[in-house]
Amino acid sequence: MGKLSKEKRPPIGAFANVVKEKVQESLRARRQELEAAKIQAQLEKETLDVTIPGVRRPLGRVHPLNATIDKVLDIFVGLGYTVAEGPQIETDYYNFEALNTPDDHPARDMQDTFYLSEGKLLRTHTSSVQIRYMEEHQPPIRIVAPGRVYRRDTVDATHSAVFHQVEMLAVDKGLTFSDLKGTIKEFLRQMFGPDLALQFRASYFPFTEPSAEVDMQWKGKWLEVMGCGMVDPNVLTAVGYDPEVYTGFAAGFGVERFAMVLHQIDDIRRLYNSDLRFLRQF
Ligand code: DAH
Repeated sequence: MGKLSKEKRPPIGAFANVVKEKVQESLRARRQELEAAKIQAQLEKETLDVTIPGVRRPLGRVHPLNATIDKVLDIFVGLGYTVAEGPQIETDYYNFEALNTPDDHPARDMQDTFYLSEGKLLRTHTSSVQIRYMEEHQPPIRIVAPGRVYRRDTVDATHSAVFHQVEMLAVDKGLTFSDLKGTIKEFLRQMFGPDLALQFRASYFPFTEPSAEVDMQWKGKWLEVMGCGMVDPNVLTAVGYDPEVYTGFAAGFGVERFAMVLHQIDDIRRLYNSDLRFLRQF
């Protein structure tokens, strides 16, 4: 431009301006095109088809045995009981001796109990938790103790060498057999239905006196569901309670039995072999 004459400068300058504007205009247009294409590509990439069916995640659920234990514990907690636990590997003292079980009692037999080394054994019932809890606490006591127990039973449709029990124990001043009956009735009716018919049958357990077994009417038959009784004074003495001051009642029952009755399960082994076709029904 500097070398142009005065006359030529304006028209050529004006022409240069036109060219400059044209170039800028095409650059702008091209940039817009590229940006639009970029947005379009991104939209296509991120498109979500909300009509495609979702992927179903497998849902876990509570095992029928645990569900039964939960229901039992819920009922007793509602009645003011506390949940307690004890070890599955026990000593003769907690499993038998402190529970007033004589040396020659058949339950102590090698045929019935799994004995381990060093005087240890696998507990045959959750009654051992009664002793452990009473040793550590003073009355009044109201506990429920769920847990695994072991017996040298031959496995069949109704027996298993490992199964579950729930133990119940109350100790206080002035507890009577009526309190035991009322508690058991309330528990079983919450568990199985308000119109459940029950009968208490005299029985024998070393750790209770008197002792009873409870039958409930189920599908037209009497079904034995638990053992219970007033805590034997010897058991109270073993943990340092004065049986002249305190009385107690206790009960123990098998969880598998309850689960089988509640869900019409015909073979106890179904509860252990983790067959999903079975478990999915609960
Ligand atoms: N421990 C007994 C059993 O395994 C059940 C039982 C009976 C527990 C009477 C108790 C009881 O607390 O009072 O067969």
